[in-house]
Amino acid sequence: MSPAQMEHLVAKALEARRLAYAPCSGFAVGAAVLAASGRIYTGCNVENASSGATVCAERVAILKAISEGERELVALAVAAETEGVCPPCGICRQTMIEFGPQMLVIMADLAGRREVRTAEQLLPLPFTRTRMRAEGSHAD
Ligand code: THU
Repeated sequence: MSPAQMEHLVAKALEARRLAYAPCSGFAVGAAVLAASGRIYTGCNVENASSGATVCAERVAILKAISEGERELVALAVAAETEGVCPPCGICRQTMIEFGPQMLVIMADLAGRREVRTAEQLLPLPFTRTRMRAEGSHAD
Protein backbone atom coordinates (compact mmCIF):
# COMPACT_ATOMS: atom_id res chain seq x y z
CA MET A 1 0.00 0.00 0.00
CA SER A 2 1.49 3.35 -1.04
CA PRO A 3 1.82 6.31 1.33
CA ALA A 4 -0.74 8.16 -0.83
CA GLN A 5 -3.26 5.31 -0.43
CA MET A 6 -2.68 5.36 3.33
CA GLU A 7 -3.27 9.11 3.46
CA HIS A 8 -6.45 8.67 1.44
CA LEU A 9 -7.72 6.16 4.03
CA VAL A 10 -6.76 8.54 6.87
CA ALA A 11 -8.65 11.35 5.10
CA LYS A 12 -11.75 9.12 4.99
CA ALA A 13 -11.35 8.35 8.70
CA LEU A 14 -11.07 12.07 9.51
CA GLU A 15 -14.19 12.75 7.47
CA ALA A 16 -16.09 9.99 9.31
CA ARG A 17 -14.91 11.37 12.64
CA ARG A 18 -17.01 14.46 12.05
CA LEU A 19 -20.12 12.27 12.37
CA ALA A 20 -19.10 10.79 15.75
CA TYR A 21 -21.92 10.42 18.25
CA ALA A 22 -20.02 11.00 21.48
CA PRO A 23 -22.24 12.90 23.97
CA CYS A 24 -20.83 10.92 26.92
CA SER A 25 -17.06 11.25 26.43
CA GLY A 26 -16.83 14.13 23.96
CA PHE A 27 -14.08 12.07 22.30
CA ALA A 28 -14.69 11.79 18.56
CA VAL A 29 -13.12 8.93 16.61
CA GLY A 30 -13.27 8.11 12.90
CA ALA A 31 -12.26 4.98 11.03
CA ALA A 32 -12.07 3.79 7.44
CA VAL A 33 -11.57 0.24 6.23
CA LEU A 34 -10.25 -0.83 2.83
CA ALA A 35 -11.66 -4.22 1.82
CA ALA A 36 -10.13 -6.71 -0.62
CA SER A 37 -12.79 -5.66 -3.16
CA GLY A 38 -11.26 -2.16 -3.23
CA ARG A 39 -14.26 -0.58 -1.51
CA ILE A 40 -13.86 1.68 1.53
CA TYR A 41 -16.26 1.63 4.48
CA THR A 42 -16.26 4.30 7.17
CA GLY A 43 -17.36 4.46 10.77
CA CYS A 44 -17.46 6.72 13.80
CA ASN A 45 -17.89 5.92 17.47
CA VAL A 46 -21.51 5.59 18.56
CA GLU A 47 -21.99 6.06 22.31
CA ASN A 48 -24.86 5.18 24.58
CA ALA A 49 -26.07 6.32 28.00
CA SER A 50 -25.54 2.67 28.97
CA SER A 51 -21.79 2.71 28.35
CA GLY A 52 -21.52 -1.01 27.54
CA ALA A 53 -23.64 -0.39 24.46
CA THR A 54 -21.06 2.03 23.01
CA VAL A 55 -19.37 0.87 19.80
CA CYS A 56 -15.95 2.09 18.66
CA ALA A 57 -15.41 3.69 15.25
CA GLU A 58 -13.23 0.80 14.07
CA ARG A 59 -15.89 -1.82 14.74
CA VAL A 60 -18.61 0.28 13.13
CA ALA A 61 -16.50 0.46 9.95
CA ILE A 62 -15.58 -3.24 10.05
CA LEU A 63 -19.14 -4.41 10.70
CA LYS A 64 -20.45 -2.21 7.88
CA ALA A 65 -17.95 -3.87 5.52
CA ILE A 66 -18.77 -7.41 6.64
CA SER A 67 -22.50 -6.81 6.53
CA GLU A 68 -22.13 -5.60 2.94
CA GLY A 69 -20.57 -8.92 1.97
CA GLU A 70 -16.85 -8.25 2.44
CA ARG A 71 -14.85 -11.02 4.10
CA GLU A 72 -11.27 -9.84 3.83
CA LEU A 73 -9.98 -6.51 5.01
CA VAL A 74 -6.70 -5.06 3.77
CA ALA A 75 -6.22 -1.88 5.81
CA LEU A 76 -7.89 0.25 8.46
CA ALA A 77 -7.23 3.86 9.40
CA VAL A 78 -8.28 5.28 12.76
CA ALA A 79 -8.09 8.96 13.63
CA ALA A 80 -8.72 10.97 16.77
CA GLU A 81 -7.38 13.91 18.72
CA THR A 82 -5.04 12.06 21.05
CA GLU A 83 -1.72 12.39 22.83
CA GLY A 84 0.17 10.74 19.99
CA VAL A 85 -1.80 8.43 17.71
CA CYS A 86 -5.02 6.58 18.57
CA PRO A 87 -4.35 2.87 19.23
CA PRO A 88 -7.42 0.62 18.88
CA CYS A 89 -8.93 -0.98 21.99
CA GLY A 90 -8.68 -4.71 22.69
CA ILE A 91 -12.14 -5.64 21.40
CA CYS A 92 -11.43 -3.85 18.11
CA ARG A 93 -8.09 -5.65 17.79
CA GLN A 94 -9.87 -9.00 18.21
CA THR A 95 -12.43 -7.98 15.57
CA MET A 96 -9.62 -7.01 13.17
CA ILE A 97 -7.91 -10.39 13.60
CA GLU A 98 -11.07 -12.22 12.49
CA PHE A 99 -11.10 -10.53 9.07
CA GLY A 100 -7.47 -9.72 8.36
CA PRO A 101 -4.59 -10.60 10.65
CA GLN A 102 -2.28 -9.00 8.13
CA MET A 103 -4.34 -5.86 7.65
CA LEU A 104 -2.41 -2.64 7.99
CA VAL A 105 -3.65 -0.51 10.85
CA ILE A 106 -2.84 3.13 10.27
CA MET A 107 -3.17 5.09 13.50
CA ALA A 108 -3.43 8.84 13.08
CA ASP A 109 -3.84 11.96 15.17
CA LEU A 110 -4.90 15.42 14.05
CA ALA A 111 -1.36 16.80 14.13
CA GLY A 112 -0.15 14.60 11.26
CA ARG A 113 1.36 11.78 13.31
CA ARG A 114 1.03 8.31 11.80
CA GLU A 115 1.96 4.87 13.08
CA VAL A 116 1.43 1.69 11.10
CA ARG A 117 1.25 -1.88 12.42
CA THR A 118 -0.39 -5.07 11.24
CA ALA A 119 -3.40 -6.35 13.19
CA GLU A 120 -1.35 -9.33 14.37
CA GLN A 121 1.38 -7.03 15.65
CA LEU A 122 -1.27 -5.24 17.70
CA LEU A 123 -2.65 -8.51 19.06
CA PRO A 124 0.04 -11.17 19.47
CA LEU A 125 -1.08 -14.73 20.25
CA PRO A 126 -4.71 -14.08 19.30
CA PHE A 127 -7.57 -16.43 19.98
CA THR A 128 -8.83 -17.63 16.58
CA ARG A 129 -11.30 -20.19 15.21
CA THR A 130 -8.44 -22.48 14.18
CA ARG A 131 -7.55 -22.99 17.84
CA MET A 132 -10.95 -24.42 18.73
CA ARG A 133 -11.56 -28.13 19.08
CA ALA A 134 -15.32 -28.59 18.84
CA GLU A 135 -16.97 -31.18 21.11
CA GLY A 136 -20.39 -32.77 21.51
CA SER A 137 -23.51 -32.00 19.52
CA HIS A 138 -22.14 -28.80 17.99
CA ALA A 139 -19.22 -30.56 16.30
CA ASP A 140 -19.34 -31.09 12.55
N1 THU B 1 -13.10 4.76 20.92
C1 THU B 1 -13.08 4.44 19.60
O1 THU B 1 -14.04 4.70 18.87
N2 THU B 1 -11.96 3.87 19.11
C2 THU B 1 -10.81 3.68 19.81
O2 THU B 1 -9.83 3.19 19.27
C3 THU B 1 -10.75 4.07 21.22
C4 THU B 1 -12.04 4.45 21.85
C5 THU B 1 -14.28 5.47 21.44
C6 THU B 1 -15.23 4.69 22.27
C7 THU B 1 -15.88 5.77 23.10
O3 THU B 1 -16.93 6.34 22.35
C8 THU B 1 -14.80 6.84 23.25
O4 THU B 1 -13.85 6.55 22.25
C9 THU B 1 -14.12 6.84 24.60
O5 THU B 1 -13.70 5.57 24.95
